[in-house]
Amino acid sequence: MSRIAYVNGRYVAHRHATVHIEDRGYQFSDGVYEVCEVKDGRLIDERRHVARLARSLSELAIAMPMPAHALGVVLRETVRRNRVRDGIVYIQVTRGVAPRDHAFPALTPRPALVVTARGIDPLKMEKLADEGISIVTMPDQRWARVDIKSVSLLPNVLAKQAAREQGAREAWLVDRDGFVTEGSSSNAWIVSKDGRLVTRPIGHDILRGITRTVLLDVIREQGLELDERPFTVEEAYAAREAFVTSATQTVMPVVRIDGRPIGNGAPGLIASALRRAYHAHAESS
Ligand code: PDD
Repeated sequence: MSRIAYVNGRYVAHRHATVHIEDRGYQFSDGVYEVCEVKDGRLIDERRHVARLARSLSELAIAMPMPAHALGVVLRETVRRNRVRDGIVYIQVTRGVAPRDHAFPALTPRPALVVTARGIDPLKMEKLADEGISIVTMPDQRWARVDIKSVSLLPNVLAKQAAREQGAREAWLVDRDGFVTEGSSSNAWIVSKDGRLVTRPIGHDILRGITRTVLLDVIREQGLELDERPFTVEEAYAAREAFVTSATQTVMPVVRIDGRPIGNGAPGLIASALRRAYHAHAESS
């Protein structure tokens, strides 16, 4: 089956889908994106993802390309045309096309909107969650506003690649004081030695993950102990459990950090239980 992409008002064959060479996303990373999970053909947490998209855009003074409800129609139609049952829908908005100049164009261009969708094998993801993943730590070399979900991802790309080259699936990024900020494409969590869930508080130094937000509801409802505070790499080595959260993986147990086994080296009970509970708390539309 051939894939279909939505590009600035048209549904086109994925292999022929293109943007202009002077799109400011291409030249300056002047744009933002969202990745939303698709499960059983439905969008998971669309409302929150679209709200975060609107926030990222407003931080960069880019207009929403269309109202939220119209965007919802495009997202669903892209999922439908690609016959995605389980997978992701990707949304990218850039400032648009203009002659190259660092400052914003004098005549505001129309924001460029691209939407794609692709399937991810849920069985493969479950197998991965049953085994748990390895991660490695490295310095956080990103800019100071990573709360904006910008397409400027070069440090994340380099960190992920370095992780892959070391046989790991994710990189945890570490600030100058030795505290973990987040993963290259996920939020970072541990269960401390005394059984408390720990994750870094939101700020300009991490992305406010939608999965993280929903999981906080799950944690509160289950009455689990939670500390929103930074944790060090040393603390992570000694943790009972570790896991990451993102739209593509929901809750993914971590079993090795920098080659050291976490807990007994198998996915933790709390992480696995949170993974099972997750979708009952997420919004499905
Ligand atoms: N990444 N932190 C970073 C740096 C991320 O890129 C992501 C998501 C998250 C988790 O956010 P959420 O729970 O809303 O997916 C945290 C997406 C999946 C990506 O870039 O593919």
